[in-house]
Amino acid sequence: MIKLSKRLKEIADFIPPASRLADIGSDHAYLPIYLIQQEKIDFAVAGEVAAGPLQHAQEEVTDRNLEDRIHVRLGNGLDVLEKDDAVDHVVIAGMGGLLIALILEQGLLNHKVSDGQSFVLQPNNEEVHLRRFLLENHFEITQESILSENKHFYEIIVAKYQAGQEAEAWSEEDLLFGRFVEAADPQIFKEKWQNEKRKTKNIIASLQYSKANNDKTLTDFQHKINLIEERLHDEDTS
Ligand SMILES: C[S@@+](CC[C@H](N)C(=O)[O-])C[C@H]1O[C@@H](n2cnc3c(N)ncnc32)[C@H](O)[C@@H]1O
Repeated sequence: MIKLSKRLKEIADFIPPASRLADIGSDHAYLPIYLIQQEKIDFAVAGEVAAGPLQHAQEEVTDRNLEDRIHVRLGNGLDVLEKDDAVDHVVIAGMGGLLIALILEQGLLNHKVSDGQSFVLQPNNEEVHLRRFLLENHFEITQESILSENKHFYEIIVAKYQAGQEAEAWSEEDLLFGRFVEAADPQIFKEKWQNEKRKTKNIIASLQYSKANNDKTLTDFQHKINLIEERLHDEDTS
C-alpha cells in the first residue's frame, strides 16, 4: 500500500468515490495508485510532460500490475485526455499557480475541458493569479483548504467548470485569502499569514537597505501587510 504525504492525502480526500481521474504532472503516479488501492476509483490517466518522471510513473504502475486501470501518458497538460476517458475529476498539484492556470487555459483552447468537470488544484504559489484566472474563465470555486507540511503551507482550490457560469468578481481580500480557506483550518491559516507578513516585512527592509526600491513596489508590499493585519485583527503578529 502506498503511503501518501500529508499534502497528497488531503488532495486525495477531495476525490469522490467512483471518480474517473486525471492526475496531470503525475511524476510517480502515487495519487492514482493510492486511490485505486483504496478501491475509491478504478480508472485514472496519469499525464506527464517529462520523460524521466513519466518513466517513474510507468514503473510504479507496472510493478503493481495496474496498467489496465492507470493509463500513463506522455504529453503537455490536458492534451493527454481523450473524450472516451470520460474523466470527471482532474488533479493538477505541486506546480506554480501560473503554470496551473496556463495548463487550464491551453486545455480550454484545445477543448480538453468539459462542462461539469471538477478540478482539484494545489498551487505552490501565485494563488491570487490562479483564483482570478478561474473566476474569469467560467470556473466556480467550490471549496478551498490549507495545510502545512515540512514548514511549507499549501492551499488546495477545488473548482468546477461550468460553461454557462458568469465571471464572478471576488474582492481583493477574497482573491488573496480565499473565501473558504480560513474556515478550513483557522490555526494554519493564521500561521501562514503571520509568516507571510514576516516575509513581506523582510522584503521591504531589504529593498530599503539596497536602495533598489521604487515607491510603487514599497506601497504594494505595505498594502499587503495592511490587508494581512486587518484580516488577522492583530497588528503585533510579526
Ligand atoms: C513537482 S512535481 C509534482 C508531482 C505531483 N503532482 C505532486 O503534487 O506531488 C511536478 C510535475 O509536473 C510535471 N509537469 C510540469 N509541467 C507539466 C505540463 N505542462 N504537463 C504535464 N506535466 C507537467 C513535471 O514534469 C513534474 O513531474
